[in-house]
Amino acid sequence: MSDARRIAVNTGGGDAPGLNAVIRAVVLSAERLGWEVRGILDSYDGLFHDDGVIRLDSRSVRGITHLGGTILGTTNRGNPFRWPVVGDDGSLSFVDRSDEVVDGLERHGIDALVAIGGDGSLEIAHGLAEKGVRVVGVPKTIDNDLAATNLTFGFLTAVETATDAIDKLHSTAEAHERVMVVELMGRNAGWIALHAGVAGTADVILIPEIPYDWDVVCEKIEDRYRSGRDFAIVVVAEGAFPVGGEPLFKQTAEGSKKLGGMAKIVSDEIHRRTGRETRELVLGHLQRGGGPNAYDRLLALRFGAAAVKLVAEERYDCMVALDPPDVLAVPLAEAVAGIKHVPVDGDIVQTARALGVCMGDRADG
Ligand code: F6P
Repeated sequence: MSDARRIAVNTGGGDAPGLNAVIRAVVLSAERLGWEVRGILDSYDGLFHDDGVIRLDSRSVRGITHLGGTILGTTNRGNPFRWPVVGDDGSLSFVDRSDEVVDGLERHGIDALVAIGGDGSLEIAHGLAEKGVRVVGVPKTIDNDLAATNLTFGFLTAVETATDAIDKLHSTAEAHERVMVVELMGRNAGWIALHAGVAGTADVILIPEIPYDWDVVCEKIEDRYRSGRDFAIVVVAEGAFPVGGEPLFKQTAEGSKKLGGMAKIVSDEIHRRTGRETRELVLGHLQRGGGPNAYDRLLALRFGAAAVKLVAEERYDCMVALDPPDVLAVPLAEAVAGIKHVPVDGDIVQTARALGVCMGDRADG
């Protein structure tokens, strides 16, 4: 049994519904073992200033299981191994501040760290483990694109939000006899688009794993109108792209590049080719907002409790993972080796095709 007496927890990367539930489970399970818990604010940033590490106890995690966001704050711009520094002349360079993280953890008397995050945060966690930090990862992302776990918490809540949006688009699309194109998140994987698209009975679903053919997409739309259904719903994953094309990026106000903008391209091209009236919608960060649904809460609580168990067993440099029906440990190196794509011959793609949904390629038959 581990002699760890004080552990820390942090949340890194984009938020996902369920983060607070993990924090609560970590704190309560650790307290039951007689340990103290510290929360590092804003991923690792809290270690770089005086009041960035807070004490967490059962009182501070009361009533947070159902809440979205994270009580610890998060950032997807704070990689301590590649910390951005803007020079006097406006130039951008990067410095390695990981030793400061190691020192900071020592200064706060932290014996082990539970790092909750997506692939970027877990890669940082793995890097810290290689520097001797005792760390256990907890996989989080609405994108569900992490290798080595069947599911990440936050995903199913995002799918629910997206499905609800698709449901609502049906009535306005039908009223105006329009083609409604909705862009969903997911980075370079099509999990959210595929799940929400099938559940929401979209007519066309475009995902990064299956580059789409404009002719096929437009034929499907025309077939639909010809058959008397005078509207159509097209779901586009933000990372989807046409055959011979590539994913589209947009610039954020802070100067970083993010996937996005494909809904407008698809909407304009469908209009140009078919003459149908089209409108597009980017669902965006609504998919990350709000509280976790019951399944995500449960998964988050299971992950938090399992992470503390791993610390107690002194099993570090690993991540908790769902391997239904169990939660088990996988090496962090395995978890960050690559992203998990939608299998193009998997059951859900096959189901979509069986239902007549156009996946953008000729395999639709
Ligand atoms: O990884 C989660 C995610 O929401 C992606 O689906 C999306 O591409 C990205 O984060 C958006 O990042 P940001 O919050 O920086 O705009």
